[in-house]
Amino acid sequence: MSHADDHEGTRRDFLYYATAGAGVVATGAAVWPLVNQMNPSADVSALSSIRVDVSGVETGTQLTVQWLGKPVFIRHRTPEDIEYAKGVPLTDLVDTNARNANLPDANAEATDDNRAMAGKEEWLVMMGVCTHLGCVPLANAGDYHGWFCPCHGSHYDAAGRIRRGPAPQNLPVPVAAFEDETTIKLG
Ligand code: FES
Repeated sequence: MSHADDHEGTRRDFLYYATAGAGVVATGAAVWPLVNQMNPSADVSALSSIRVDVSGVETGTQLTVQWLGKPVFIRHRTPEDIEYAKGVPLTDLVDTNARNANLPDANAEATDDNRAMAGKEEWLVMMGVCTHLGCVPLANAGDYHGWFCPCHGSHYDAAGRIRRGPAPQNLPVPVAAFEDETTIKLG
């Protein structure tokens, strides 16, 4: 008679909420619209900075968190991802600007070092919003070891740099830093 709670258990299988109130999804960008709907986003959006526990993000996966009303990808890159990204000559890039808010030089080049987290190159943090018209790119997709935006076919590489398709710019890297070994502060 009282099995009405069964559906909640199903949801808990793939969703959980961080202590700061940010919606967190471990299964990738494809389900972002669902998370967005379920979130009490008014108060979350009001937080100018959040802390994210990344201790559970295994190599080769990413966490997507909502920050200031937008998805942020927190990617734990594999050694192969990093090697690939470092090996791309700047002359192959569509957008040679690092677009990293953490760098003092707004004209810094889009090398892998200038895109990844300082001192922790296995971590890449960037806005999960396609620079073409704002769709959420899919992880582990596309032709460059990174992301693919299915809306109009933009490919981003393992450093989040646009490589092919209509998007004009690399995915922007927001202000982000490790506070301790497992906590990233956004903003
Ligand atoms: Fe991503 Fe158009 S919105 S390719």
